[in-house]
Amino acid sequence: MQRCIPVDRLARPDNIVLMRGKQVREIREEQGLEGRPLPFDHEALRARLHGIMTGEFQAMEAAGRTLFDFPDAPWEFQLDMARQVWDEARHSEIFERLLRYMGGDPGDYVETEILWRCTQAEDPAARVAGINRGLEGLACDVFDQLIRIAQRNGDEVIERAIDYVLADEITHVRMGSKWMRKLTEGDPERLARAKAFQEMVDEVFNFRGGRRAQEDVANDDGTMLTIAREARLLAGFTEEELQHLVESTRKSAAY
Ligand SMILES: [Fe+2]
Ligand SMILES: [Fe+2]
Repeated sequence: MQRCIPVDRLARPDNIVLMRGKQVREIREEQGLEGRPLPFDHEALRARLHGIMTGEFQAMEAAGRTLFDFPDAPWEFQLDMARQVWDEARHSEIFERLLRYMGGDPGDYVETEILWRCTQAEDPAARVAGINRGLEGLACDVFDQLIRIAQRNGDEVIERAIDYVLADEITHVRMGSKWMRKLTEGDPERLARAKAFQEMVDEVFNFRGGRRAQEDVANDDGTMLTIAREARLLAGFTEEELQHLVESTRKSAAY
């Protein structure tokens, strides 16, 4: 049985174009679109909602693959993964509707493979560490920022919709924390490998300084992606793990 299927095996309608994140950055640079667009801008927000929608597709597919790839995992683990597939399917629909609400359509922007790349682990403990704690931890940070942006824009539709999704993501991160620890009980080396995989994922999502600790942002008005401390504590991150993540954002920013 083949685990870790390549990104181009994911089923998509013909109008969705899949590209490497690096390629998208290069094209933007060629077109003179360097730097990060301001997140309050209507067009930037629409593009972002599209990116999150395709991210939710991949999160749904990743949870489905985890369920399929590890048939010998505990039954409760499989139940959690099945529940997550359902949640991510609902999130995909929510973001598709928010995209349409902003005047966009699926396929208006490219889909990148960066999230899928972070699902490629052979061990279920590493898989949930990378996906549920790394990737979905990022979702908490991104949604926390988007809620603040929506509040600033006075947009209650986006604010409330994303708040509902964030509540689910917190439970997904919590599942990851629970299963990363449970599956590696009595095997510190396996736990260390799972954590190392998550660290690689966190490193990718520090976006070379694009994600910061709240205390490192002088005027935190939502322009900057910051670590959603409160949501992550609710999701089972320890103070020590949060501090570790803060330090990794500082290292990435220093490059
Ligand atoms: Fe989601
Ligand atoms: Fe999720």
